[in-house]
Amino acid sequence: MRLRISKPDHSTRADLASALLDCHAKIRFFNGQASRLWMHAEDLPVAEAAEAASGIARYFAEALPLHEADEEESIRPLLAGRSAMVDTALSEMNRQHGALHDPVSRLISQCREISADPSRVADEAATADLSETLKVLAPLWERHLELEEGVIFPALEAFLVPHEREAIHREIRLRRSHGPADELRTQGDRT
Ligand SMILES: [Fe+2]
Ligand SMILES: [Fe+2]
Repeated sequence: MRLRISKPDHSTRADLASALLDCHAKIRFFNGQASRLWMHAEDLPVAEAAEAASGIARYFAEALPLHEADEEESIRPLLAGRSAMVDTALSEMNRQHGALHDPVSRLISQCREISADPSRVADEAATADLSETLKVLAPLWERHLELEEGVIFPALEAFLVPHEREAIHREIRLRRSHGPADELRTQGDRT
């Protein structure tokens, strides 16, 4: 059985909204990988389990923080104060980012443990822990991505002028031009 039955669309999209949606596609992809790792644990060759777990841990540990920084450090300051509805959504986005930290950290730890010792993928206790984490994460991610895609990203088009959107997009690219994101970029895993 191959876990990599599908890949996110890594095609480079030029505009800001598309770049952000690319990040969300990768969040959904790696969450899906984690679910498949749990659901197919018993059938999975050890090497594939290790590779998949390592990729999931690397993505959430190294690339996801860059995407959160895009939203908290580049988008939030520029969008704040434009409308009461958007301000409410920005506050909720910030709260949701905080709520995601602990379960995402648990997912990273659990995947690192499986990667270091792939035999754990057949260990009931280990897969039960992973299952619990994914159950917590699923509704958090659903609400979070829905909020950003339904309110925050459209607000970039509605309230910002082109040079403001370009400034955000430039910061997003700059954030990935150095540090651990370099490795992820070459592997197509950057947010
Ligand atoms: Fe996002
Ligand atoms: Fe976010």
